[in-house]
Amino acid sequence: MNRRHFLIGSMAAAAPGLSGADSGAIGTGFVGTGNRGSHLLKLTLDEPGAKVVAVCDIKPDRLDRAATIAARDQPATFSDWRKLIERKDIGAVFIATPCDLHVEMAIAALKAGKHVYCEKPIGITAESIRELVKVARNSKTVFQTGLQRRSEPRLRSTIARIHEGVAGKVIYAKAQRHGDSDLAHDGSSADWFFFPNRSGDLITENSVHNLDVCNWAINSYPERATGFGGNIMYVNDPPGRTNMDGYTLSYEYANGVKLAFTQVAFHPAKMPYAWQHTFIYGTKGAVDLDTAMFYPHEAGEPQVLAPPEERAPRDRHIADFYECIRTGKKPAADIIVGASGALTSILGREAINRKKILTWKELGVDFL
Ligand SMILES: NC(=O)c1ccc[n+]([C@@H]2O[C@H](COP(=O)([O-])OP(=O)(O)OC[C@H]3O[C@@H](n4cnc5c(N)ncnc54)[C@H](O)[C@@H]3O)[C@@H](O)[C@H]2O)c1
Repeated sequence: MNRRHFLIGSMAAAAPGLSGADSGAIGTGFVGTGNRGSHLLKLTLDEPGAKVVAVCDIKPDRLDRAATIAARDQPATFSDWRKLIERKDIGAVFIATPCDLHVEMAIAALKAGKHVYCEKPIGITAESIRELVKVARNSKTVFQTGLQRRSEPRLRSTIARIHEGVAGKVIYAKAQRHGDSDLAHDGSSADWFFFPNRSGDLITENSVHNLDVCNWAINSYPERATGFGGNIMYVNDPPGRTNMDGYTLSYEYANGVKLAFTQVAFHPAKMPYAWQHTFIYGTKGAVDLDTAMFYPHEAGEPQVLAPPEERAPRDRHIADFYECIRTGKKPAADIIVGASGALTSILGREAINRKKILTWKELGVDFL
């Protein structure tokens, strides 16, 4: 353990809300208790190191539902997130609000000395992400983002095998996220999801997961991107929407790898190749990340690189967050993972919107 991590661990053990009657349980607050926030809340109640001290949402029905879910811990309820962050008995804050609010809330929580679990994308503009990275780097608390694939054991093992060279030198990648429908038009997130100034657009809100996995497997950041997309199928439906429902992107990475990425919201569920796929091609063969299979170019049988996922007793990504708080371990999806994933998606979005080949430098990314 390096000195910084040791200090984080010892600081965490001494922080407010971490001792006394709850035998070390970490006082935790939730900001945004909609779909994702209430799911994270349920998972956190299974976490032995956590106690839910407060919940916050601007919608009274969501707040009531959250208070009911967490009734065991009798949390305080707030409609103003700043009041939650002020509480001294809160050591950790989960942020699961619409994407445009993440940066401001995460910065305030970090500055108040809280550990932060911030949903993806950590931000929707390069400038705001730069600010958050600066604050997180200067904080002694843990920052984890909700890119939970980083905590999947099989994916971790498969990518480790790629980094060890099982497929030779990685040269190309192909990935997709093809859904069979748009987000529900009258759904609970419809008031922000369809508007890029709130969601960051489909690519940033949604495919940040897939692009982060690509960055991780390729082991580099993109240098430039270009692509085409728009509101192709569900035109002006719901009325006033401005986000995309389909696009195609090409990225070139600093290490020379090329990535072809597509996302659509209109892939019929019964047609082959639906949903998410990631193929990583190397000089010796290719890896299907979803099945952890390696297919050699030369004669030889395909190989299983990692065993199937075993059921975990509790959510791995949330358990990782609390373990990092207790021990000072580096989070599976730290600020740099969160920032690079979000920025990769923003590079793609801006390349499409500006109709050009856009570079990482032009996006202003010189801080990772
Ligand atoms: N990691 C994942 O797999 C995953 C899955 C789904 C959503 N998400 C992310 O979680 C976030 C929330 O998504 P969702 O589907 O839960 O949306 P949602 O609309 O269901 O929930 C957002 C909640 O935030 C509340 N809110 C809005 N402004 C607020 C404010 N100022 N203070 C307090 N609460 C406020 C809303 O009232 C709502 O209840 C998004 O960033 C989304 O991208 C992540």
